[in-house]
Amino acid sequence: MISLKKRSLISITDFNTEEYLHILSMAKDFEKTPIQNIAEGRVIATLFFEPSTRTRLSFESAANKLGAKIIGFADVNNSSATKGESLSDTIKTVANYADLIIMRHSLEGASRWASEVADIPVINAGDGSNQHPTQCLLDLYSIKKTQKTLDNLHVAMVGDLKYGRTVHSLVEAMCNFNTTFHLVSPESLKLPSAVKILIKERKLTYFQYTEMQEALDKADIVYMTRVQRERFVDIQDYERVKNAYLLDKSMLNNVKENMKILHPLPRVNEINKDVDNTTHAYYFQQALNGVYVRQALIASILGLK
Ligand code: CP
Repeated sequence: MISLKKRSLISITDFNTEEYLHILSMAKDFEKTPIQNIAEGRVIATLFFEPSTRTRLSFESAANKLGAKIIGFADVNNSSATKGESLSDTIKTVANYADLIIMRHSLEGASRWASEVADIPVINAGDGSNQHPTQCLLDLYSIKKTQKTLDNLHVAMVGDLKYGRTVHSLVEAMCNFNTTFHLVSPESLKLPSAVKILIKERKLTYFQYTEMQEALDKADIVYMTRVQRERFVDIQDYERVKNAYLLDKSMLNNVKENMKILHPLPRVNEINKDVDNTTHAYYFQQALNGVYVRQALIASILGLK
């Protein structure tokens, strides 16, 4: 019997493979029946110290569909952090008002710290360049839904593999499913060695490229990412790589028939709009899948299912 009751989710490795699959299976049920009033009387705090559209709103949509109430802030300037309150004091205080904290912060490790000071579970909604585990679960759900399996796939990851927290979480998770990785990035934005070591430890194969066409043609899944201006200390470094990868429809002529393009979004210019109406584009459905996966997470962590 799998129980995630009262568990925090900070890194994707906090859950094991059986637990991921349990969440994905619950999410499938929520996709069939999204309105389930099982969290009535529960309060969920969404604390977003960094901007977000999809993660915050899909969590709030998920909580609403479960009948929970939401408190929190989407703009740190409306919180007492601007008066100098420490993160731990904010978290201890909010833990008095809520049953679950969902938190995004620009500092790597901030969510782990919050989970250590809170006496309620904390879900990491993205901490700096480190981890984005709930995005990872919805990515896994989207991959399984489109490919009918998570096993033995060729996954191309394109763009900012250095600072991309969604990439780090997804590589770690896909290491459990005999994945072959095709890593496409500028030299300056390669996947960090610490993550590549995990691939090697699992005796899996990865290929590195600076051009994307060969990887596109080999892939079952193409995971596009934005070059994130906000992660660069030197704006000149960003300017040099910001247009490194511009995927358009003409590049899809020789790809696998069922290849799907995922992107955590937001996009800037890395996927041309002419891709949106192809059978390969899956990024907006992927964002929708986030609601079902987050319903599953909230329900299981609150011990409602
Ligand atoms: N995928 C994702 O994290 O998007 P937001 O930044 O809009 O939440």
